[in-house]
Amino acid sequence: MAEADGVRRRDFINIAAVSAAGVAGVGIVVPLVSQMSASADVLAASSTEIDISSIQPGQAIKAIFRKQPVFVRNLTPHEIEEANKVDVSSLRDPQTLEQRTKEGKTNWLITMGVCTHLGCVPLGAGEGEPRGEFGGYFCPCHGSTYDTAARIRKGPAPKNLEVPVYEFTKDTVVKIG
Ligand code: FES
Repeated sequence: MAEADGVRRRDFINIAAVSAAGVAGVGIVVPLVSQMSASADVLAASSTEIDISSIQPGQAIKAIFRKQPVFVRNLTPHEIEEANKVDVSSLRDPQTLEQRTKEGKTNWLITMGVCTHLGCVPLGAGEGEPRGEFGGYFCPCHGSTYDTAARIRKGPAPKNLEVPVYEFTKDTVVKIG
């Protein structure tokens, strides 16, 4: 779909701008990507560190991890509540928010920004982007809709947005990979 491709292209341009320039502002942080000139092999094996200190509750950012978009979102108490009140057994890919986040840090939802249907970049991490009827992410390609735990709730995607391997190296820094 031409329009969907357009959306996706803009997303990547946005991500590239964030990674390269570390533009300050609402919903954007400075990913500490240090391997801009690394070879493809090194890049594929590397990790990404992200300073999350400027992401306010309700905001999310897009960064790049192994050449793919990753979303880092600071959930509000209401969004956490929304995620926790869902009957997990009713889900297509049953997982609790707790299982998808780190202990004591359930407000930090870190997922790949890759729709599990056919790989488009869902909307919802960028400022002003639609988040879909479940308040998480919305994939414009074929309408997959994810909730505030980035779990698939509607549309053709078979799985929740993937949670990558990551750790908090400081309270305000996340190392992905
Ligand atoms: S790629 Fe996201 S719904 Fe198809």
